[in-house]
Amino acid sequence: MLLKLSTTKGNMLVMNKRLIICTAFLTVAAVTVISSCSNNRSTGLEFARNMYDPIGYNPDQPNKNFKDGKTAQNPPAGTTPVGFDKYDIYPNTLEGYQAASAGMANPIPVSVATLEQGKTLYLNMCSHCHGLEGKGDGSIVKLGKFPAPPSYSTGNSSRGGSMKDLTDGKIYHTITHGVNLMGPHKSQLSPEQRWKVVMYVHELQKLQ
Ligand code: HEC
Repeated sequence: MLLKLSTTKGNMLVMNKRLIICTAFLTVAAVTVISSCSNNRSTGLEFARNMYDPIGYNPDQPNKNFKDGKTAQNPPAGTTPVGFDKYDIYPNTLEGYQAASAGMANPIPVSVATLEQGKTLYLNMCSHCHGLEGKGDGSIVKLGKFPAPPSYSTGNSSRGGSMKDLTDGKIYHTITHGVNLMGPHKSQLSPEQRWKVVMYVHELQKLQ
């Protein structure tokens, strides 16, 4: 009998303890939820404030050190962005196209590997218009949605001469700036990738 009483008392103590823990937990949770709703523009508790305010200037911050008062400065004239090279200097004009033809030569050595890469890039970026073999019969041309570009091997360039005689510089200039209905590809293909495509276009020019 005595033993039974003490166990009941013991159980009740355990239950009280659980109740207290549960109530405390729920109170903290409720306070957190309610206080977080009160001001939804507040950033809340900020830990390590210094990490939000860097010592260096942010690009969009005013800056008295420069004449125009801005932190983000234009690069000096003639600067070449990383990954681009001097070949992008030829302007998007007929004169630029002719000058590119006279002044440019593919700097990348032709090898099985570079030709394979050029082929993959050509298939992904050009073949839907120019066709798998450059005959001007790409998939969108076959749909009747787009006029056929001239064939690389038998067609004539709209800028004079036959397509099979297009030089390194003319093809590179065309990929970079586009021509008429063909859009520019300078933001899609790096100079190195463009040269690899040029290499593969030369192969297609040889087809009958
Ligand atoms: C949206 C379709 C389209 C895509 C994509 C396209 N071209 Fe063209 N391309 C044309 C058309 C159309 C012409 C003919 C434009 C003209 O002379 O009026 C052309 C012309 C050319 C010429 C001839 C330029 C000249 O001097 O006459 C070359 C070279 C060429 N494209 C290469 C490429 C390469 C390489 C790619 C892929 C990087 C490519 N094109 C992607 C439609 C396309």
